[in-house]
Amino acid sequence: MIKKKLAPKPLMYPKPAVLVGARVMGKPNFNTIANCGIISWDPPMVAVASYFGHYTNRGIRRHKTFSVNIPSAKMAKVTDFCGLYSGRKTDKSKIFKVFYGGLKTAPMIEECPVNLECKLVKTLKYGEAEIFLGEIKAVYAEDKYLTNGQPDTIKIDPLIYSSSDKKYYRIGKPVGKAYEIGRKKKQA
Ligand SMILES: Cc1cc2nc3c(=O)[nH]c(=O)nc-3n(C[C@H](O)[C@H](O)[C@H](O)COP(=O)(O)O)c2cc1C
Repeated sequence: MIKKKLAPKPLMYPKPAVLVGARVMGKPNFNTIANCGIISWDPPMVAVASYFGHYTNRGIRRHKTFSVNIPSAKMAKVTDFCGLYSGRKTDKSKIFKVFYGGLKTAPMIEECPVNLECKLVKTLKYGEAEIFLGEIKAVYAEDKYLTNGQPDTIKIDPLIYSSSDKKYYRIGKPVGKAYEIGRKKKQA
């Protein structure tokens, strides 16, 4: 086996492309984030790494709330737009239909199949990034994206980002049932 040793880069496949929302200067603002992940199931916690200078960060710091909105693949263009233009110069408050939940200050996007309403519990600083650790206080999804009351990945059709070729993808077909197909493997 010959493997090429490449430069150390934070590569991960796949990465989500989500829209993180916060209320900034009295208006909703959304930025595109690929560096986002779940860190705990119970309590339900998410981590979002967003560069300090981003306009969205101001609102998260101020209100201590934010949202993580999961766009579908058909929302690639508008998701990219939110990642190209900063709320500092471009008003992104009217792009989406916005709603609020119990936390009152975490704007969420109606057009996104799934929305996580988060309360900021801790902020870590690493280099130029702020890592916001948020407790998910509520999840919102329309009935059409659910199967047996749970969000359905195929119906959501989430947008995937690949950082090495800087392209958006959509997920493919299921390959097996987790915590199950492994049982069919013969032990070495
Ligand atoms: C596909 C994609 C992924 C991105 N991922 C991140 C990320 O993980 N962290 C980050 O700080 N910025 C990321 N950005 C850049 C911000 O979304 C961008 O700078 C945005 O304009 C900031 O908006 P704001 O200033 O209104 O908050 C990404 C942009 C794109 C297009």
